[in-house]
Amino acid sequence: MAGQGMVIEVARGKTLLEAALAQGVGFPHDCKVGTCGTCRYRLDDGKISELTSSAMGLSQEQFQAGYRLACQTLPRTDLTITLDTALERTHPVVEVGGRVASQAHLTHDIVELRVDLDEPIRFQPGQYAELLIDGVAAARSYSFANPPHASNASVYFHVRLVPGGQFTGWLFAASRLGQAVTVRGPYGQFGLKPGAAPIVCIAGGSGLAPIKCMLEGASPEARRRPVVVLFGARTERDIYGLDAFEALRNAWEADLTFTPILSAEPAESSWTGRRGLVTDYIQTIPDIDHAQAYLCGPPPMVDAAESALLKAGLTPDRIFADRFFDKSQAAAA
Ligand SMILES: Cc1cc2nc3c(=O)[nH]c(=O)nc-3n(C[C@H](O)[C@H](O)[C@H](O)COP(=O)(O)OP(=O)(O)OC[C@H]3O[C@@H](n4cnc5c(N)ncnc54)[C@H](O)[C@@H]3O)c2cc1C
Ligand code: FES
Repeated sequence: MAGQGMVIEVARGKTLLEAALAQGVGFPHDCKVGTCGTCRYRLDDGKISELTSSAMGLSQEQFQAGYRLACQTLPRTDLTITLDTALERTHPVVEVGGRVASQAHLTHDIVELRVDLDEPIRFQPGQYAELLIDGVAAARSYSFANPPHASNASVYFHVRLVPGGQFTGWLFAASRLGQAVTVRGPYGQFGLKPGAAPIVCIAGGSGLAPIKCMLEGASPEARRRPVVVLFGARTERDIYGLDAFEALRNAWEADLTFTPILSAEPAESSWTGRRGLVTDYIQTIPDIDHAQAYLCGPPPMVDAAESALLKAGLTPDRIFADRFFDKSQAAAA
């Protein structure tokens, strides 16, 4: 299968997207389940079957123009395809065994999970992995919370308890130290983009993980760009990351600010910081219409922040988002 000169070998039973990512081809993707439309390509020649119809994740115009979804595509013959964006090389998706090495509370409902791997996984700060635990749940996605370390094979995740959630319910119910975990990845294309523009990060809850990872893994050039981080949380007990962002602020060459904004802090509490929604403060960010914006966390917050940024004059090509979809939102989609 050729596209911009690239050939992707697809084994029987694998989707086009799985094969591309396993071979280190950075095929655009996001949800991997056929709803977001990010992995669309135009089928120029060849025959496919589909896990679910591509029509589910594409507009009628796109579908009729011959677009299909790589995450749903099982090739039946050689294919020739065209993508709207240039393909880049990326770290291949691998599956590595490991064990839970620590499980420390960051807040009452977010733990930092450290997994010691049998061998290191290579990834770009901002990407995520799938965690698989025998008999607990299907794979669940978690963003790497710390940048990769050449000399050790530990990876860190910030996992928030989701009421009624299978994986997080299991994790929070007891100590899981020593538990075998399979880590599959890296996935996703979230991460710091090149340029000199000011950086605006907006995170909700454990959405802080990829932002922290991305900034901690930033190059010396990127550290000359001013950074504003708005962290949306409900109450004071939901705030975390203060030490990590203080360390980042000290190590950053340009200005870096980290501002928690509380949406449900009782009016009578001693909290003197900002209150309301992160979106209330977007207009106050200096040079917002020239910034690059990075949004992470619950989909409703990310959607609201994206709308507010567009309203503030940012163009869509300067907004990068990582939505932490779970089963309830996937079912609704
Ligand atoms: C790219 C990506 C990155 C992510 N990164 C992180 C991260 O760094 N940190 C983090 O905390 N989370 C992250 N998430 C979310 C994470 O993957 C899980 O979805 C989340 O932890 C919930 O998993 P769970 O097994 O506990 O819940 P699930 O069992 O998946 O259930 C989630 C909710 O859906 C409900 N539900 C279950 N099945 C159905 C159904 N059929 N219909 C309707 N409702 C249903 C449950 O009652 C529950 O309320 C990320 C998600 C994505 C897509
Ligand atoms: S990755 Fe979302 S539709 Fe394929």
